[in-house]
Amino acid sequence: MVSKEIDWANISFGYMPTDYNVRRYYRDGKWGEIELSSSEIINIHMAATSLHYGQEAFEGLKAFRGKDGKIRIFRMQANAERLQSTCRGILMPELPTEMFCEMVEKVVKMNERFVPPYESGASLYIRPLFIGTGAQVGVHPANEYLCIIFVTPVGPYFKGGFAATPYVIIREYDRAAPLGTGRYKVGGNYAASLLANKKAHDLGYSCEIYLDAKEKKYIDEAGAANFFGIKDNTYITPESTSILPSITNRSLMQLAEDMGMKVERRHIPEEELNTFEEAGACGTAAVISPIERIDDLENGKTYIIAKDGKPGPMSTKLYNELRGIQYGDRPDKHGWVTVIE
Ligand code: PLP
Ligand code: COI
Repeated sequence: MVSKEIDWANISFGYMPTDYNVRRYYRDGKWGEIELSSSEIINIHMAATSLHYGQEAFEGLKAFRGKDGKIRIFRMQANAERLQSTCRGILMPELPTEMFCEMVEKVVKMNERFVPPYESGASLYIRPLFIGTGAQVGVHPANEYLCIIFVTPVGPYFKGGFAATPYVIIREYDRAAPLGTGRYKVGGNYAASLLANKKAHDLGYSCEIYLDAKEKKYIDEAGAANFFGIKDNTYITPESTSILPSITNRSLMQLAEDMGMKVERRHIPEEELNTFEEAGACGTAAVISPIERIDDLENGKTYIIAKDGKPGPMSTKLYNELRGIQYGDRPDKHGWVTVIE
């Protein structure tokens, strides 16, 4: 049963307490059993590597309630694999896919009443957190870890949801270095984005966009979402070593191909923004956030993308197809969805 106390249609992207979280500890070289907790608190050693040296990773995925009342989790295995890649990147032990999926399914089932109703357009955000808990004073990986997964119901990440809004290129801060941790989902990348993100918000933009840190020529990504542009029936998205491999973007590339579009992954020089018929930011939280225009404050340029201020037809089609699969309204041809019985 869906909880009746929540105003589902008006929830934002924020934290709301739910009934349970699940935890699994890594000690003595192996993963322990899954544990269910109703506490929002973790007890952690003051010298834990996650606190001092950023040995920390997280993930983000969503569960959706369909018209049929069933709950669907989107691309859980892909999130397990990305978390494993992050773990390899910052020397943490990998959590096997089966253990990750068992935790995700359990935490969703135990919080079933917080999966928003179909009609609300909201969803259940699933947040796996992976931290070094072992004490170290020298810069070394920990020997103990905790993986915890909590959930919280969410509405749209960017104001307006599926509406075209302005974005801004911020050149004075880099989020990630070309051979740094940008391709991993570690907290440090987000710490590095806070100033640029605040500046973008203070100036009235939805989000900041980063250029590649080395040459400052090519579009990298937004603070919490990948970038794509569309022109000549082609879906174009940056190829870069410093961006997060977005599972939403990967899904959209597949859907674009299914719709008969060409797909290109390559460098996107800033000037090319002028030529896009449509553009958007995409991610689990953002879904697709259509881009109205992009300002480059430092060089005084403005790239107007949505000339009528509205989401374009291809972005709308992609959005509807993706949401349709997630909510169970459209066939799941690629096997992306796990249905919770
Ligand atoms: N890029 C960044 C920096 C992100 O934080 C996210 C969110 O997870 C994404 C891209 C989108 O990735 P995904 O579609 O896997 O959620
Ligand atoms: C996501 O889309 O899951 C994100 O990670 C965005 C964010 C809230 C950091």
